[in-house]
Amino acid sequence: MSQTLSSVIAALLFAVCASLTVPVQAQNINNNVATMTRNLTGTWSTGSGAVLTGVNFYNPVDRSFTLPLTAGESYSFTSDGFWEQASVKWISNPSEPDCPTLHAIWQHGTYQIYPSNNTVHLEPFWGDGHQYMSAYCSTPNSQKLASSGPSTLGTWMGVSDKSDGTLAAYNQMEEFRLPTFDIDLHYGVPFDVLFLQIPSGKRKNRLYKYLDPPQMLPTEQLHVEVYGAM
Ligand SMILES: *[C@@H]1O[C@H](CO)[C@@H](O)[C@H](O)[C@H]1NC(C)=O
Ligand SMILES: *[C@@H]1O[C@H](CO)[C@@H](O)[C@H](O)[C@H]1NC(C)=O
Repeated sequence: MSQTLSSVIAALLFAVCASLTVPVQAQNINNNVATMTRNLTGTWSTGSGAVLTGVNFYNPVDRSFTLPLTAGESYSFTSDGFWEQASVKWISNPSEPDCPTLHAIWQHGTYQIYPSNNTVHLEPFWGDGHQYMSAYCSTPNSQKLASSGPSTLGTWMGVSDKSDGTLAAYNQMEEFRLPTFDIDLHYGVPFDVLFLQIPSGKRKNRLYKYLDPPQMLPTEQLHVEVYGAM
């Protein structure tokens, strides 16, 4: 066989192999995204699952929050690309140790998985998301913290004194590394676990799958901008 002929055959073989391996790789990536999407579907929450997405957390009709006793975070995902977030945090106030600030967040939108750069991108429906902040004092005699605006807190239990809080828009794009999953014993019962990690590497608290199918508000833009209504 001549030198030229063998190099032509080698080039042909290479071309055939390349044309076979590229679709196989693409196939693997597609399978991976499909499995990941199936894995993501459901309503996830930290700890005991006190915070869960859905209308029992945030009511868009009167923009009211119904908040549980404890801090926590919840995410829901659908298999067709929608997400929702509910979060309750306590922010301590060193100068008023008895009066920490409660920070509640609700938002939703669409998500996209990008295997090429190892990210999942959560885009909000702009104008729908809201946050509520209020100082709560655990001892009746402690001074109320200054705050303004309407109190839209639906229900609150277990805290003896509350000042009116503030409601504000909250629309925050979120980006995570590709999610990873595990199965863990949680209160002695096997639960699916979701790990979300922000691009800098910091992991969020582990999220347990509490509901499947997910519990969510309608997966569409709920806020309608009414121009000229004022
Ligand atoms: C799906 O979840 C299982 C655990 O429940 C995990 O072993 C598997 O790696 C996950 N697959 C993907 C593509 O995330
Ligand atoms: C990942 O890729 C998508 C699609 O190209 C892009 O929109 C997104 O900004 C990228 N994210 C990062 C962190 O590079």
